[in-house]
Amino acid sequence: MVVKRYEKLFSPFKIGNVALRNRIVKTAAQTYFFDSGEHRISERAKAFYGACAKGGAGLIVVETPAMEWPLAEEGDRRFRIDDDKYIKDVSELTAAIHKHGCPAFVQFYHRGPWGGVYHTIAPRVAASAVTLKSEFDVHEDDPPHVLTIDEIEELIERYAGYAVRVSQAGFDGLEINAGADHLLHTFLSRFWNKRDDQYGPQTMENRTRFILNIVREIKKRVGEDFPIQILMNGIEIGAGEEGFTMEEARTVAKMLEAAGVDSLHVRSHWCGMHQGSYLHDCLFYPEPHIPIEDFPKELDWSRGGALANVPLAVMIKKRVV
Ligand SMILES: Cc1cc2nc3c(=O)[nH]c(=O)nc-3n(C[C@H](O)[C@H](O)[C@H](O)COP(=O)(O)O)c2cc1C
Repeated sequence: MVVKRYEKLFSPFKIGNVALRNRIVKTAAQTYFFDSGEHRISERAKAFYGACAKGGAGLIVVETPAMEWPLAEEGDRRFRIDDDKYIKDVSELTAAIHKHGCPAFVQFYHRGPWGGVYHTIAPRVAASAVTLKSEFDVHEDDPPHVLTIDEIEELIERYAGYAVRVSQAGFDGLEINAGADHLLHTFLSRFWNKRDDQYGPQTMENRTRFILNIVREIKKRVGEDFPIQILMNGIEIGAGEEGFTMEEARTVAKMLEAAGVDSLHVRSHWCGMHQGSYLHDCLFYPEPHIPIEDFPKELDWSRGGALANVPLAVMIKKRVV
């Protein structure tokens, strides 16, 4: 029996043609339960994601594969999909989820200007050479490498190639992480984007060009009916006048929808305080990190942090279908 107030949560839903038995989504938090080396789809990863499916989730978004390849091998516990030879292993993971009647998406998340959890040999990259000094975020003092147009095009190709392979491995859809201060957000935000080319901050067409080209290329290669969900910031806090505003987020949402994006996952982002972006409760414990009066008024603090982002989702939902 479903308690009345949770009726909607337990009602079916659809993302594109993918049917969800309910609206509980396991988000793409990194577990690092994979093995390093050639065969990364570990028994532990299959058991974990299989258990989430068995537990009744409506959708599982599996954590990202390594997007910044080539990386130093040592210690990297993300799975690989940069070659066809990995498809077979990865299909064991999707089978472990499907077995329990749950669809599986996967997130593609390129760290961009973030320093690695591992000592990666891939350089930190971004739209521009902006640095962020913070005791909370995984940024470093030296500026990230500014992507050239050729490198952007190579990345579009990489995202599309990876998308083809994950669909062949049985994933039902894809979530592209354009939130936080990861690679794709650095193009959307005037704080991060100081370019003077066709990917620069001068127009919204320019700022969204990278992500929209990725979406179009994937739709072209994998098919219109392979759902793409975009994880985006509904607001960027703490970046001053140049921070990504709610109005900008609305415009971007509309453009993503027009390009065929099937679903949006909206977050807030606190520049220099990544944890605060999505774990609002942790802002309050053991005590607030910043004075309560400085908390952004756009969010809802009435429940001590829980559901603080709901106003952002409401605002986007009003703009898109
Ligand atoms: C250790 C850890 C790693 C995470 N990694 C990711 C990630 O790679 N991609 C992502 O979109 N979210 C990531 N998240 C955020 C979660 O997906 C989720 O948004 C967050 O935990 C808030 O949801 P909750 O309140 O249901 O826990 C991570 C969270 C944690 C705690």
